[in-house]
Amino acid sequence: MDLELTDEQRLISESAREFADKEIVPRVRDNDRAERFDRELASKMGEVGYLGAPVSEDYGGRGLDYVGYALIVEQVGRADSAARTVVSVQTSLVCGSIEQWGTEPQKREWLPRLCSGEALGCFGLTEPDTGSDAANLRTRAKKSDGGWVLNGNKMWISLGNVAEVALIFAQTEPDKKHKGLACFLVPTASDGFSTQEIHGKLGLRSSDTAEISLDAVEVPDSAMLGEIGDGFKVAMSALDKGRYSVAAGCVGICDGCVEASVSYSKERKQFDVPIASFQLVQAMIADMIVKRDAARMLVFRAGALKDQGKPSTIETSIAKLYATESAVECANTAIQVHGGSGYVDDYPVERYLRDARVTTLYEGTSQIQKLIIGRDATGINAMTPGQ
Ligand code: CAA
Repeated sequence: MDLELTDEQRLISESAREFADKEIVPRVRDNDRAERFDRELASKMGEVGYLGAPVSEDYGGRGLDYVGYALIVEQVGRADSAARTVVSVQTSLVCGSIEQWGTEPQKREWLPRLCSGEALGCFGLTEPDTGSDAANLRTRAKKSDGGWVLNGNKMWISLGNVAEVALIFAQTEPDKKHKGLACFLVPTASDGFSTQEIHGKLGLRSSDTAEISLDAVEVPDSAMLGEIGDGFKVAMSALDKGRYSVAAGCVGICDGCVEASVSYSKERKQFDVPIASFQLVQAMIADMIVKRDAARMLVFRAGALKDQGKPSTIETSIAKLYATESAVECANTAIQVHGGSGYVDDYPVERYLRDARVTTLYEGTSQIQKLIIGRDATGINAMTPGQ
């Protein structure tokens, strides 16, 4: 077991840190206050290869391994979780699914433009009445001559208003339950495809979030990603990648909390000494460091398995569960270190808390991760209590 990063990985991490500090950090507060989705920043991330880092170079990606990808996502996540959400959705959920399940023409059509940031994509799984029970979705795909007609609604879709292509999961045969699901690559300019922005979010205010309506949207047979009945596996395999990137981004939040707290506690004086001199402040910093390092190790373990082509669903759920919960706890602790200053946006820590909060919800709640881990440990599926 080698716990050292390679020279190449260290370089990837350092250049991602530099990019994040130069290109992302200066924009974060204004974008957050204005609830503005920063398309220009998304393009910049595409230019440096951060939207297709693990995608093969044959399709416009950077061909990095998963540990290298996590190092990039960590730095983007430290700077801004809204930007990190762009990376996660575009790279892991959208590009990752097309690369794994797409036909050669589908890959050629979409991957180079997605990896470069010229086009954005979104992942349409969740619906108003279907969240954790993803197999039970209501969107319907009806066979037509030479294609399919899609009807339904999708909810909480990151990048939904700004995407050029949407992965839409739909049921082709309700009696077959998850075995009837299919995934379609739907251009968002299609007739009958419309979106509405969701406002008033606690955090991730500069991330685009949409409700999508599909009103008799027609797509050709060639728009299907995988085969009829593959839809659920497309979704789950995408989430194996997406959860990994959410976890890596949360390591970045934990790290940002440590950095901000160390720096602030050395500057801020009370009782004539820097508050870093107080044992209780150091204890808070130590707690954050332990969580950050443990989360990072769990991410690296899941990444190493992915790089070896081994199953990593459970290890990814463990990393996602621990890293997201740790990010919330670290952000809360970092505010405590900052006192009143941590409650306003002169420092990043209040945003860390608001932005971290969604990570224990999206791409599978903490409870779903626990049920996945518990099922693997016991052999008992607690997700279908009625059966
Ligand atoms: N990769 C490939 N296939 C997989 C898989 C994986 N990781 N996990 C399961 N499958 C396959 C199984 O092998 C099984 O196949 P067979 O039918 O051939 O046997 C099939 O899928 C069904 O698997 P399960 O029995 O595990 O399915 P389930 O219904 O019991 O439960 C669940 C699954 C874990 C609860 C799942 O529904 C789940 O993860 N739910 C949470 C959904 C979620 O994370 N939503 C997030 C939305 S996306 C988002 O937030 C995006 C955004 O915009 C930010």
